[in-house]
Amino acid sequence: MIRQAIIPLAGLGTRLLPLTSVFAKELLPINGKPGIEYIIDECIEAGIKEIVFIISDKKLMIKNYFYNDRFYKKIIKKKKDKRIINEYKKILKYKKMIKFVYQNKPLGTGDAVLKTKKLIKDKYFLMLLPDDLIIKQNCSRDMIKSHIKYKSSVMASMSVNKKTISRWGVYNLGKKINKSNYFINDVVEKPKLKDAPSNKAVIGRYILPRSIFHIISKLKPGAGGEIHITDAIRELIKMNEKFIAHNFKGKYLDCGSMHGYIKSGLEISKL
Ligand code: G1P
Repeated sequence: MIRQAIIPLAGLGTRLLPLTSVFAKELLPINGKPGIEYIIDECIEAGIKEIVFIISDKKLMIKNYFYNDRFYKKIIKKKKDKRIINEYKKILKYKKMIKFVYQNKPLGTGDAVLKTKKLIKDKYFLMLLPDDLIIKQNCSRDMIKSHIKYKSSVMASMSVNKKTISRWGVYNLGKKINKSNYFINDVVEKPKLKDAPSNKAVIGRYILPRSIFHIISKLKPGAGGEIHITDAIRELIKMNEKFIAHNFKGKYLDCGSMHGYIKSGLEISKL
């Protein structure tokens, strides 16, 4: 079983400026609900019991969102509003399952993952990137099923327009298992169009083995001076860890760019 999830939340969100100049992008409302709550709900529905948030001291607002008990208690005492009581109950439920670790320097997703090392107990864990919303079908739940069935690490995959290829991690596909799952031979972070091994991109859902921590701790910084999770995954594949690319069924929404963020609200309002 996969019981723990981690969510890197220390990113600065420059693609969403000016909204993110004073506000954590993951708390921005998407159709009236903070983006991060969609991600937490996906985890809960997929059977996750504990979520580790990787924040920074610039993103303390995220912790405060879940630790504002005094405020809620005061309001609820004054007016017994059913809606507010229910919202507070929901926040309490989330709070119980969230732990916080800190990444105060933006040294990449690999570095963020490494910060959770002491808290991860099982052989495998789930990672979700909060910019990537997947609606209509629970991607994490389906990936956990593939993980159990094929005893592999799993990453979400989607066909993308070749014109956008250098924005993604891109798979070199191996043996087809079925319509939704392929083994992968390699994965390359943000390749040039001429070097891209396919048009299948990594989307922000990963089931990773705990052995990745050791790999990351030995990695040298890659592109942009950052430690990339993709580079750690490449090393694991070289060491014969099986990785599956899972073509998810739901609809992908990119909440990390302004255009995508606006579109996400519209798409979710139609559900
Ligand atoms: C990250 C990953 C990349 C993946 C993408 C999906 O990139 O490094 O491999 O394709 O998420 O959203 P980022 O969006 O942080 O540039």
